[in-house]
Amino acid sequence: MTIRSVILGTGSYLPEKIMTNKDMEAIVDTTDEWIVQRTGIRERRVAAADQNTADMAIEAARQALHAAGLQGSDIDGVIVATSTPDTTFPSVAVKVQAALGVRQGPVFDVHAVCAGFIYALTVADSLLRTGAARRLLVVGAEKMTSILNWEDRTTCVLFGDGAGALVLEAQEGSGEIADRGILSTHLHADGNLRDILYVNGGVSSTQTAGHIVMEGKEVFRQAVALMADVVTEALDHNGISSADIDWLVPHQANIRIIEGTAKKLGVELDQVVLTVDRHGNTSAASIPLALDEAVRDGRIQPGHLLLLEGLGSGLTWGAALIRY
Ligand code: ACO
Repeated sequence: MTIRSVILGTGSYLPEKIMTNKDMEAIVDTTDEWIVQRTGIRERRVAAADQNTADMAIEAARQALHAAGLQGSDIDGVIVATSTPDTTFPSVAVKVQAALGVRQGPVFDVHAVCAGFIYALTVADSLLRTGAARRLLVVGAEKMTSILNWEDRTTCVLFGDGAGALVLEAQEGSGEIADRGILSTHLHADGNLRDILYVNGGVSSTQTAGHIVMEGKEVFRQAVALMADVVTEALDHNGISSADIDWLVPHQANIRIIEGTAKKLGVELDQVVLTVDRHGNTSAASIPLALDEAVRDGRIQPGHLLLLEGLGSGLTWGAALIRY
């Protein structure tokens, strides 16, 4: 008998305000054509000034609970992946806990930027498989627009706000690849690459939140290589080939990085869940947002094999293979 962490329900939330590339043209020296051609992004959502990361996380988590047919009191803990918390402390996760009536812990945030959701999934999976919890809410939520330099056209056109969530439950399985649940996760980091993508502020340094600074070309180069490596690692670990994958659910940073990973895998683009055109890069929220969209529109069906992957500042990166 093997314990697997099975997805019971998914949810997501996007702020109402849509900001198109045309809107961006009025703010910085850019064009719709440049943004679409280099990134695949056409528009992104922007949270209201008084709408914080926790507000979006709570809505996404509420939807995931509803999809699972559960209430907050049925959940043993909350893990939120975010780099844009409302306050330095307490965590976004405790706000989700209080709002949804989750009565116990563990409740905490995970900070691994765009790989944050894969990191949070891995921690949740570990807690579930060791019996420390039976059901967990895992959320990715970001207000990226609050750390953008709106005068820097090389970064401000890339990011958006939103949240995605899922409910995981520990279930007994036979240990076969056909079992539902998380089959494996694979995490990596290389702190020597921290200077190619960072935020130039923080509590102990400047006492400000800071803004995103990025060497786009170098991040792009690393992302294409490292994403290809980690998806191969996930397949090899499970003794399967890319032909077994039903859906690639990648972090949505840039269509060209996603195309590169799909090509390396030999997966057609119509097997890739794409939201980057409408959401931009929502960092830790992008994978669960994409997952929820494809579950709700019926593309992802029970039994499908999903490959999730993402890379972010740190650099941090990872992948997860999940039987939905
Ligand atoms: N509009 C118009 N022109 C622009 C813009 C813009 N928004 N931004 C840059 N340019 C200009 C540059 O100034 C440069 O002009 P120059 O040739 O006169 O100097 C030209 O366009 C080319 O710029 P590059 O940086 O070489 O463009 P590139 O093709 O590399 O695309 C991009 C830039 C889209 C940022 C790309 O490098 C990329 O996607 N990088 C990866 C980003 C990423 O994946 N981040 C993921 C992690 S995010 C996280 O963890 C929070």
